[in-house]
Amino acid sequence: MNRRAWLHRIAVLLGAAGSVVVLRQYLSPEELGGTSTIDLGAIDVVLPDGQRRLFTVDGESFLVARQGESVRALSMTCTHAGCPLTFDDRASRIRCGCHGGAFALTGEPLAGPPRVPLVAVPCAIENGRLFMRIDSRGRG
Ligand code: FES
Repeated sequence: MNRRAWLHRIAVLLGAAGSVVVLRQYLSPEELGGTSTIDLGAIDVVLPDGQRRLFTVDGESFLVARQGESVRALSMTCTHAGCPLTFDDRASRIRCGCHGGAFALTGEPLAGPPRVPLVAVPCAIENGRLFMRIDSRGRG
């Protein structure tokens, strides 16, 4: 095989490999994109209407609130420097023990150094079950 034929063959192989990667991204964006959908359980068991609850997935906490068929999830990682947050149910606040940050239950910063709202994580009720979509590259 001469040099030109050899280079042509390499170019064809690289092109085919690139096409496979593009096709895989189109067919299976969850696998390559680092996201996964987590089934948190039967909605009426794990999160009755009108309540809030902390869920832990892969060692990370999320605060999920339900109003009827609407659910909303927030990452419980502080947007200031990444410390874990706590849910203060009595004060209806989310607090950070590292530097005194506080967030409203909507995720908006209220006090302390955080200026960026908490990350909202996609979640939904489907067929009576609560699902949350987690992005492993950067939550939510
Ligand atoms: Fe939360 Fe600084 S890490 S206030």
